[in-house]
Amino acid sequence: MLQLLRDLGAQLAWQRDAGLLDTPSQGPLPVASVVAAPVPVSVSAPAPARAEPPPPAPVAVVAAPLVSAPPTVPVPMADPVLPEPVKVPPPAAVVTPIAPANFEGRAGALRVIQEEVRACRACKLAPTRTQTVFARGNPDARLCFIGEGPGADEDRTGLPFVGVAGQLLDRIIAAMRLTEDQVYIANIVKCRPPNNRVPYDEEMSACTPFLLRQLEVVKPEVIVALGKTAAGFLLEDKSTMTTMRGRWHSWKGVPVMPTWHPSYVLRVRDDPKSTARAEVWTDMKLVLERLGLPVPSPRG
Ligand code: URA
Repeated sequence: MLQLLRDLGAQLAWQRDAGLLDTPSQGPLPVASVVAAPVPVSVSAPAPARAEPPPPAPVAVVAAPLVSAPPTVPVPMADPVLPEPVKVPPPAAVVTPIAPANFEGRAGALRVIQEEVRACRACKLAPTRTQTVFARGNPDARLCFIGEGPGADEDRTGLPFVGVAGQLLDRIIAAMRLTEDQVYIANIVKCRPPNNRVPYDEEMSACTPFLLRQLEVVKPEVIVALGKTAAGFLLEDKSTMTTMRGRWHSWKGVPVMPTWHPSYVLRVRDDPKSTARAEVWTDMKLVLERLGLPVPSPRG
């Protein structure tokens, strides 16, 4: 019985550290700090009709500690075998160093696309945006996360996934023992749909050529499609997320893993019957395996 209680405690501790368990005592998020670097802007497209803040994308990413020195080995939530608590040093911040060899090339190509996005007024989302939202992360990343479209926080800051859904995404990335410097994050549409509605087909048609060009430049080894809008577009499949998630699909030969959108996970968090959180972790373990990266296990 004592052992059972210890095991249960260890699992709850991991879920809390990964941010997948909401507890009042939860500390600050392990979010990487992003420092804007000077941007030599070369505008290759017509100037936007109204002034926008400068582009946020070219970034120097300073990795913050992933986890605030947990005293025990983290326990992935869906694993049936629970560990003995073991004293370990904090995990290394970077699992696989990414060679900066062609950073300039990719970053430069992305900057050109970003300038076109800033100037874009091709659909009805342009007049109501504060600014366009292009991407964050590393252009050399092996792993891309694709969401749906900016919300209010993203519209205000010009960076994707910085609101509550973004904070959960950051926790998922941290639980995978990755940093923002090892992922590239973008959306299907670059302007906020009013009231956070799902983008209309014509808005997606106008905007997705930008995303396709981003992906052609970044050339990720694996794409995670967050939610039905991203999965539906990339896979040209209107199936439900229940059908699509947890299985490998392909976009132009790149493996795609659809999983639940963080906003959905947050929406159902109080439903004791929901398995969304555990399923996201199941999907992320498949992603790590596919990338040949260590999968955090019960025994670390
Ligand atoms: N939801 C998304 O799909 N993208 C964002 O950038 C933020 C919330």
